Amino acid sequence: MKLKKNLILIGMMASGKSTIGQLLAKKLRLRFFDTDFIFEKKMKMKIAEFFHKRGEKKFRNLEKKIILNILKKNNCVVSIGGGAFIDHEIRNIANKKHKTIWLNWTSDTLINRIKKNNKRPLALNLTNNELNKLIVDRSKIYSRAKYKIDCENMKKVEIVNRIIEVINQ
Ligand code: S3P
Repeated sequence: MKLKKNLILIGMMASGKSTIGQLLAKKLRLRFFDTDFIFEKKMKMKIAEFFHKRGEKKFRNLEKKIILNILKKNNCVVSIGGGAFIDHEIRNIANKKHKTIWLNWTSDTLINRIKKNNKRPLALNLTNNELNKLIVDRSKIYSRAKYKIDCENMKKVEIVNRIIEVINQ
């Protein structure tokens, strides 16, 4: 598949952006970039450790630079961190120049998944209620993506096929 744009996967932590992104890229024979992975490789540090040592603000600045750079490419699948689309500049460029795809799940599913591991610093100190509020608040912004995929009860391969279906409509 030849695209002038990137396919950008957005959504909450634990919504499967990296896994689905890899599968989607493989199926469409496109390159795949995961900006969290690029961040960790560049900084030689896990994101959780970076948050702890240097704070969220510094993380957001560096994350933004990495993403804006990746968005200059085309013909790629890109998965971006759950907080990135909240930034209006990233969101505007992503929506104007590319195809943005929101992987949407219920709050229950997301909370269960997020609480299963401790690699997500933002969620570590939040109660389930607070996490639910974050999901609800962010969903209003995620809903500005061009495409929304309701992923609940779908297998990975079904999600990938659904994405291909909607972007070709
Ligand atoms: C974050 C999501 C994480 C990572 C960082 C902050 C967020 O990425 O960028 O921990 O603010 O939602 P994933 O969405 O890939 O977990």
